[in-house]
Amino acid sequence: MNTVRDTAALRAALAPARAGGRVGFVPTMGNLHPGHLALVREARRLADTVVVSIFVNPLQFGPNEDLDSYPRTLEADQTALRAEGVDLLFAPTVEVMYPVPLAEQTRVEVPGISDLYCGASRPGHFAGVATVVCKLFNMVQPDLAVFGKKDYQQLRVIRQMVRDLAMPVEIVGLDTVREPDGLAMSSRNQYLDAEERAVAPRLYQILREAAEAVKAGGRDYAGLAARMRDRLDQAGFRTDYFEFADAQSLRPAGPGSTRLVILAAAWLGRARLIDNIEVDLETTESV
Ligand code: PAF
Repeated sequence: MNTVRDTAALRAALAPARAGGRVGFVPTMGNLHPGHLALVREARRLADTVVVSIFVNPLQFGPNEDLDSYPRTLEADQTALRAEGVDLLFAPTVEVMYPVPLAEQTRVEVPGISDLYCGASRPGHFAGVATVVCKLFNMVQPDLAVFGKKDYQQLRVIRQMVRDLAMPVEIVGLDTVREPDGLAMSSRNQYLDAEERAVAPRLYQILREAAEAVKAGGRDYAGLAARMRDRLDQAGFRTDYFEFADAQSLRPAGPGSTRLVILAAAWLGRARLIDNIEVDLETTESV
């Protein structure tokens, strides 16, 4: 596996591969865990050449967020990617990605959906994500790209961007990979101390309880959300949001919604954890 640092080297390395079949792409911010490696495996399954990027994107972090402390573990990541048979790692510097000052950088805005939930708590976050993913797509020019459903809203934002800008990239969403106790895998789990780590699986348990309540016929989404927020707070979280949404539009779920996603974000110490669960009321199945 080659590691390339700039666009010219990336294009040169990919030119022969492009002629030989489909290019699959997994964009990441590094500090890879089994959740990322599942995305890589899916790309491997669907494509002939697999490209992974590692770039901690300053544009998607707010002024008081964890950009500086975000874990950077390039060597360990390279070892893990090599073991997965990745063909090419693109690890650009900030100067390669953003040669102009960030304030002057052209941005991609995905309106509406970017303002809800995580977007409401983290203004500008999804413009930062859409911009870097758009730029990475232009650099790598993949046939398909794989994203995890843990970042459910991010996946929806990217799907909308690709649709609205007619980008020729197939977007593949993959189920969340969990620890044995149900906690969704995330680089930010490292911020949890032992006591917080013991509490953290409650987030997914409470999402499951919410899904069960809906499957049992509960339709007072606002009341249910308030109850679940209380439960999270009692467990020791500082709840950011807990919402029932239409799985397609991500608008708040209403009486006509048949496919729901229940979305939650909550702080535990210095870790902001996010998770979700899908509920299909037509089959009354939750994933
Ligand atoms: O999900 C992530 O790791 C990041 O948001 C992404 C998609 C790599 C963009 O920086």
